[in-house]
Amino acid sequence: MSEDLKVSKIKRGTVIDHIPAGMAPTVLRILGISDGASNVVVVAMNVKSSKLGQKDIVKVENQILDEQKFQKISIIAPQAIINIIDNYQVVEKRGVSCPHELEGILKCPNRNCITADRLEKMLTYFVCEKEEPLILRCHYCETSVAADRAEIL
Ligand code: CTP
Ligand code: ZN
Repeated sequence: MSEDLKVSKIKRGTVIDHIPAGMAPTVLRILGISDGASNVVVVAMNVKSSKLGQKDIVKVENQILDEQKFQKISIIAPQAIINIIDNYQVVEKRGVSCPHELEGILKCPNRNCITADRLEKMLTYFVCEKEEPLILRCHYCETSVAADRAEIL
């Protein structure tokens, strides 16, 4: 069965496609709609994909992603494709790529890192160390973090 038979199209908003299977709930949390939303939200999990075997899809009506949400999704779903939909048509398709500078996006796992000090109130800052698989490095303490194990803020 094709995914279109299971997942209806949206009129206007954002479709995040090619999310690794099982990651849709994390995407919903990043979008800030895990506790309910007023817009239409369509979630499909474990649908067939030629590229990934199985994938998840999240569709949100009337929401355009800001840069911070876009970056967070790039980390947990590096193969995701973001489609902007207007009047039922895909008007923009954007692949996520290794984000080169990530400010305040993920937590540094090193407890001695200056960004872990509550009094300093410093934003974390990561750079891309390697693309596939994605590995990020803390600018301050140089701790490396595999993207699939990163704690998203
Ligand atoms: N989509 C949607 N509502 C629309 C138009 C498209 O929900 N009005 C969804 C499609 O179901 C698909 C995604 O947006 O999941 C991208 O649409 P499209 O580019 O038409 O599909 P593909 O060519 O299969 O995309 P890709 O090559 O990125 O897999
Ligand atoms: Zn650090």
